[in-house]
Amino acid sequence: MWVEFKIADFVLVWVIVALDAVAVVYGGRTSGYVRGLNYSADMPLDSDVFRVPPGYNAPQQVHITQGDYVGKGVIISWITADEPGSNTVLYWAEHSTTKSQAEGIMTRYTYINYTSGYIHHCTIVDLEYDTKYYYEVGIGNTTRQFWFFTPPAIGPDVPYTFGLIGDLGQTFDSNKTLTHYESDPTKGQTVLYVGDLSYADDYPLHDNVRWDTWGRFIERNAAYQPWIWTAGNHEIDTLPKYGESKPFKPYSHRFHVPHMASGSTAPFWYSIKRASAHIIVMASYSAFGKYTLQYKWLISELPKVNRTETPWLIVLMHSPMYNSYEAHYMEGETMRVMYERYLVKYKVDAVFAGHVHAYERSERVSNIAYNIVDGLCTPISDKSAPVYITIGDGGNLEGLAKVMTEPQPDYSAYREASFGHGILDIKNRTHARFGWHRNEDGFAVEADSMWLQNRYWGSVDEMPVASIWKGPGHKGYRRNMSSY
Ligand SMILES: *[C@@H]1O[C@H](CO)[C@@H](O)[C@H](O)[C@H]1NC(C)=O
Ligand SMILES: *[C@@H]1O[C@H](CO)[C@@H](O)[C@H](O)[C@H]1NC(C)=O
Ligand SMILES: *[C@@H]1O[C@H](CO)[C@@H](O)[C@H](O)[C@H]1NC(C)=O
Ligand SMILES: *[C@@H]1O[C@H](CO)[C@@H](O)[C@H](O)[C@H]1NC(C)=O
Ligand SMILES: *[C@@H]1O[C@H](CO)[C@@H](O)[C@H](O)[C@H]1NC(C)=O
Ligand SMILES: *[C@@H]1O[C@H](CO)[C@@H](O)[C@H](O)[C@H]1NC(C)=O
Ligand SMILES: *[C@@H]1O[C@H](CO)[C@@H](O)[C@H](O)[C@H]1NC(C)=O
Repeated sequence: MWVEFKIADFVLVWVIVALDAVAVVYGGRTSGYVRGLNYSADMPLDSDVFRVPPGYNAPQQVHITQGDYVGKGVIISWITADEPGSNTVLYWAEHSTTKSQAEGIMTRYTYINYTSGYIHHCTIVDLEYDTKYYYEVGIGNTTRQFWFFTPPAIGPDVPYTFGLIGDLGQTFDSNKTLTHYESDPTKGQTVLYVGDLSYADDYPLHDNVRWDTWGRFIERNAAYQPWIWTAGNHEIDTLPKYGESKPFKPYSHRFHVPHMASGSTAPFWYSIKRASAHIIVMASYSAFGKYTLQYKWLISELPKVNRTETPWLIVLMHSPMYNSYEAHYMEGETMRVMYERYLVKYKVDAVFAGHVHAYERSERVSNIAYNIVDGLCTPISDKSAPVYITIGDGGNLEGLAKVMTEPQPDYSAYREASFGHGILDIKNRTHARFGWHRNEDGFAVEADSMWLQNRYWGSVDEMPVASIWKGPGHKGYRRNMSSY
């Protein structure tokens, strides 16, 4: 029996190799661009980007995120170091003569021998759409003023531009990524952040001082436009040997999200609507099996997405479901097995993930036909499937994921181990352009790009990208189990 199988395998493998040799290769590009250094040093503690703002008890680490379900709310967060100070935020629309005020909350935490500053969070709701607001924090001591724009009212043809950043950390490369994002001529209006923020847990005792430096580093952008948070593995941050066994402790004290507005029971999975997009944040590191809270929430959220209102359905998670790098290979597989069928059923346009310190864009493929006996276990072209984009290339101290699985699988349309950022530029209900920018190029250069056709409104074909269906004879053709 065993011998017979071996012979059958052997023959099949050779048939496939022969077919591969003559097949025309369409998509599936591994970039020839090879970045020299794969190691990034963290910026030293006395770097300009980590400077504490002057003045007694001055608010620092100011950042904002969406504060409600529909984009009329903002959560403003900041930290004061010397004393609790005031929880009040003053805010006013540009040209307005009256100022409003909102009252926030204050929290703090200890981590082994570290004690955090006074962490303030204030949610402001019922703002006008499409309006510039100024806000002031630190009332009573040193005040600091910032501003942001609310998004346009939700609607199917509202253009809106999202930046995509992941696994940023705080190295010289991280600073380059943020600078390139800020200078990108396709101005990003909101950052979709796909997890792994400060990398403080790479330090002895998870030195939380590196959470503070990270907060000061991103303030120059995150105080002026919302960053939509996804939790990554570096946010788990437990050190049981030292009594720190509560997962996500520093993260959940420092970064609040509007999860309750979408009926979620935890800040790790939630959704928001913004302009023409419905964005679902999933939690790679919270229970997601059947009957879990995350599962129940997601299964009830997906049918609520109204594509007439928000044509673009975007999912964020940390660990990618499709990844052809050796780093974290197959780690997203349990999540894929569990949820891919729903992403296809509800025609998700794009799934963005981080985790792998490199860039990769997939074809529209799915791998949901497989059941334990039918052998259909290879991803196939699927026009209802999302494009999967790995954008964990923010530039943290762990360096690039340079080793790739070979040969490049057919589901992988483009991959490159360089640091960079992405921009999703939604034009209307049918068209959005995604561009990936590597840090070695000028701000305006897109090293990889594609026009996304909306899965609900757009044409099913996205011809400019790559061949969608490759047919028998090409290595992308679905193989039988017996060929493995
Ligand atoms: C860079 O990558 C190579 C292999 O890809 C590895 O041998 C080397 O140790 C890495 N260097 C650093 C500093 O991480
Ligand atoms: C915590 O302990 C570590 C190791 O002993 C030490 O290096 C660090 O300075 C301490 N931090 C504080 C805030 O005391
Ligand atoms: C700082 O502000 C708080 C709240 O407004 C106030 O109670 C406190 O007295 C102020 N501290 C100083 C030193 O001005
Ligand atoms: C970080 O980037 C900013 C903007 O380009 C620059 O002003 C600053 O000096 C950089 N800091 C470091 C430590 O590289
Ligand atoms: C979807 O949104 C459109 C536009 O706002 C609205 O007319 C329609 O009733 C909504 N559909 C559902 C099922 O709520
Ligand atoms: C949607 O945007 C695309 C790309 O800018 C454009 O070609 C197309 O004409 C637009 N559609 C409508 C209906 O305006
Ligand atoms: C698997 O391969 C066998 C033998 O080549 C073939 O008869 C069968 O149809 C294949 N199954 C599928 C699902 O392609």
